[in-house]
Amino acid sequence: MFKKALAGIGAGALLFSMAACGADDGGSEGGDDGSLVIGFAQVGAESAWRTANSKSIQDAAEAAGHDLKFNDAQQDQEKQIEAVRGFINQQVDVIVLAPVVETGWTDVLQEAEDAGIPVVLADRGIEAADEDLYVTRLGSDFAEEGRKAGTWAAETFADDADGTRILELQGTTGSAPANDRKAGFFEVLDAEGLNYEIVDSQSGNFTAEEGKAVMETFITTHGLDGIDLLYAHNDEMGLGAIQAIEDAGKVPGQDIQIIIVDGSKAGFQAGVDGKLNYIVECNPAFGPQLMDVLESVVAGDEVEKFTPVEEGVFDATQFEAELPNRQF
Ligand code: AHR
Repeated sequence: MFKKALAGIGAGALLFSMAACGADDGGSEGGDDGSLVIGFAQVGAESAWRTANSKSIQDAAEAAGHDLKFNDAQQDQEKQIEAVRGFINQQVDVIVLAPVVETGWTDVLQEAEDAGIPVVLADRGIEAADEDLYVTRLGSDFAEEGRKAGTWAAETFADDADGTRILELQGTTGSAPANDRKAGFFEVLDAEGLNYEIVDSQSGNFTAEEGKAVMETFITTHGLDGIDLLYAHNDEMGLGAIQAIEDAGKVPGQDIQIIIVDGSKAGFQAGVDGKLNYIVECNPAFGPQLMDVLESVVAGDEVEKFTPVEEGVFDATQFEAELPNRQF
């Protein structure tokens, strides 16, 4: 077990004690060489992005010589809370939590703090009220992703005199990417003064199946004539929606323009095929960076409260050239 004291890692983090983390207390054993026992409470396996993110973190832990205990919560917060409690009982050195939703973490994070185990958020964030209960977050700036999508939409539809009619497929209800991608997107449309109408906006839970089902309901309820834009909060929902649009006899990317967020191979292929119009990248490959952060946290080094990962944007002129570079 790695036994350096925590120091200088922010107000909340200073409350952590390593008392429960000693190698002689029956807990998990890291190495004398500084290797860590890491408990990783992952959201699930709902998307290509998620699978790539799990692999990046697992591979990086292995390469760094750390023991990663991995739990897939199947997008269920109760299962994630149980997993975190399990890691506390095992007295791991550090817990990595990718929280499925933003709220409901106070009790279990307090338990981790009481046990002297630092918590690092990976990918998604939690509500500001609980920010003293974790040390740092490494992941995407989801609001910025939404702003990027909004910037493209505001430019693309700037001359749409009758008003831009928008459908939105939101991610998992209550999750940070769903909340922030929505907020960032409409913040820019409002700031740019776009004349728009949200025709409908529902959650497709970040999966292709639910994205397709919700899009079918949109089509039944509103039709597709006069709908200008679909904003899908991730690739899977966008790809599911494309199927629903094709099943309805319409041409995705032409009859209705489509923005997706993530940038998987399948997403880019749909772009190359002309079925969607804009991709905002969400980068899952931060495993090596996460290992550095975990080592710093356990060593007691000062760390930023939030470190965003680097991400780009791609329009139709870039899809073909970028497709071979996609890693997931
Ligand atoms: O939290 C990141 C989001 O979660 C990705 O955009 C999505 O594909 C995943 O399910």
